[in-house]
Amino acid sequence: MALKENIQTLLAQVGEMKATSAEELESLRIKYLSKKGEITALFNEFRTVPGDQKRELGQMLNQLRQQAESRINELKEQFEAKQAEADKLDLTRTPDPIALGTRHPLSMVREEIEDIFSRIGFTIAQGPEVEDDKHVYGMLNFAPEHPARDMQDTFFIEKEKGVQKPTDVLLRSHTSSVQTRVMTSQKPPIRVLCPGRVYRNEAISARAHCFFHQVEGLYIDKHVSFADLREALLYFSKEMFGSETKIRLRPSYFPFTEPSAEMDISCNICGGKGCSFCKGTGWVEILGCGMVDPNVLEACGIDSKEYSGYAFGMGVERITNLKYRVKDLRLFSENDVRFLRQFESC
Ligand code: DAH
Repeated sequence: MALKENIQTLLAQVGEMKATSAEELESLRIKYLSKKGEITALFNEFRTVPGDQKRELGQMLNQLRQQAESRINELKEQFEAKQAEADKLDLTRTPDPIALGTRHPLSMVREEIEDIFSRIGFTIAQGPEVEDDKHVYGMLNFAPEHPARDMQDTFFIEKEKGVQKPTDVLLRSHTSSVQTRVMTSQKPPIRVLCPGRVYRNEAISARAHCFFHQVEGLYIDKHVSFADLREALLYFSKEMFGSETKIRLRPSYFPFTEPSAEMDISCNICGGKGCSFCKGTGWVEILGCGMVDPNVLEACGIDSKEYSGYAFGMGVERITNLKYRVKDLRLFSENDVRFLRQFESC
């Protein structure tokens, strides 16, 4: 009666047949119903069964085969239904909208400055934020005892814990340090724009922060004159604040430029008539500039008899204030989305 038991075992197996993929289903079919399958083997065995048992066992065997076939078909239909469902997916449908972030107003203004100067041949140069005294002050013609190191409220980095005296390692207080990096590593003609973050030990308020952003410009070549500087700055001002914008240069002092100047633009808020923003003067200061001091050129290994150049430096926050009238500097670094979202369409 071994055949009968085998049929019963297989009947139980067939009733519990499961498949999670079309491949699994196919291997079940091969296992039971193919030429070398287990059910086919029982049919072969059936030939040797004595005549009196043929009727009962024959019926059982046929039932087994039918059940196996119908279970396999049933599973197949399930897979096909799933596939049909998947085929119904509309892959041409537009996806759900993703909430987009906004560009930071300081990035937008910095990129605009870069764009304007790149149109007259300036390329971008970058330098480290953690600097040394030589590149930030020494090579820029600051005398060793020059009070600017204090005036600019430099953050000195302590070499050892507890050592208070100033060390050579510091956070740059202006992007003019990138000038010295570029001049010592490149040969004239040099025409670079150096955007970056600077640090000063200031109490944080609406008008001052311990870090802010500057863009430095430097142009060195043969026969560069103050008139070239003025033209470049006039072009920039008109591009940035509108073609009606006027500029004026007032004599000033920086250790690294001679002569030096500060540049005002006609107040873009009142159009030069005088308002509270320009304190009634019609002018607002936006940058410092001048002809690169020959001492700086020489310190950087450039022959000051052959080459001359101009430099300028401006605060990105200041330009952004003028463009978008942000009254409190702290808003730029607080990451308040209510503030940042106002620049969504810019
Ligand atoms: N480094 C100056 C500052 O931080 C800005 C500046 C003034 C840069 C005149 C220049 C320049 O290149 O020529 O206040």
